[in-house]
Amino acid sequence: MDLRLQPGFLGTNASLLSDLSLVAYVLFIAPAMLIGFVFARQGKHRPHHQYLMNAVTFVNWLLIIFLMAVSYVNGVLPGLPGSLGQPAIFLPTLHLLFGGAAQILATYTVYRMWREDTQVAAARKRGEQEVTRYWFKSAKPVMQAVLGLWLLTVVLGVATYISFYVASPAEAADAPEATPAVTESAPEAAPAVTPEG
Ligand code: HEM
Repeated sequence: MDLRLQPGFLGTNASLLSDLSLVAYVLFIAPAMLIGFVFARQGKHRPHHQYLMNAVTFVNWLLIIFLMAVSYVNGVLPGLPGSLGQPAIFLPTLHLLFGGAAQILATYTVYRMWREDTQVAAARKRGEQEVTRYWFKSAKPVMQAVLGLWLLTVVLGVATYISFYVASPAEAADAPEATPAVTESAPEAAPAVTPEG
């Protein structure tokens, strides 16, 4: 079953995958980002904070690759640059810039923490006493930047969803029957905006 071809359950024009993703972000993933931050504040860096942030980064990548990138390439890219003034083109593009930066920074952090762990373990095995030189010393500001960018991106993602799938009263009045819940080419049909329109 292709979740992108099934109608969603939120009463909008979105697919089941988009609705599941929206609910997952609001109920689980965004709270998980904040809980990870609280773990770090409490000094529970390993394993709580580390595992949770690794999981959030991984799940973000899955949703970006299988939902958002497809939706962006099919529904937004054809409208660039001509229709950048329209919300359904502008919002996802801003969202891509913040979300892309957040994910690259988050992935870099995951890599640096993994490298720190392996290097410290190897140094201890060699009998080294001083292992602080292997630490990822600028981790804190980088992780704070990731959290800020993530949360901003989630807000822009919700705005993108609304611009794609929740018609304004005026638009709805103009075309009440026009948009089937989900079509065979759901991602392509995502935003109601076309390069022409
Ligand atoms: C940290 C990275 C990101 C986060 C936290 C994030 C979050 C979200 C959220 C919460 C939504 C609304 C729910 C949904 O429709 O699925 C969304 C939708 C969307 N995002 Fe992202 N996003 C991220 C990165 C990206 C990137 C890199 C792109 C561009 C390639 C992108 C493009 C989109 C698009 C096009 C949608 C609408 C998807 C649909 O058709 O339902 N996002 N995002």
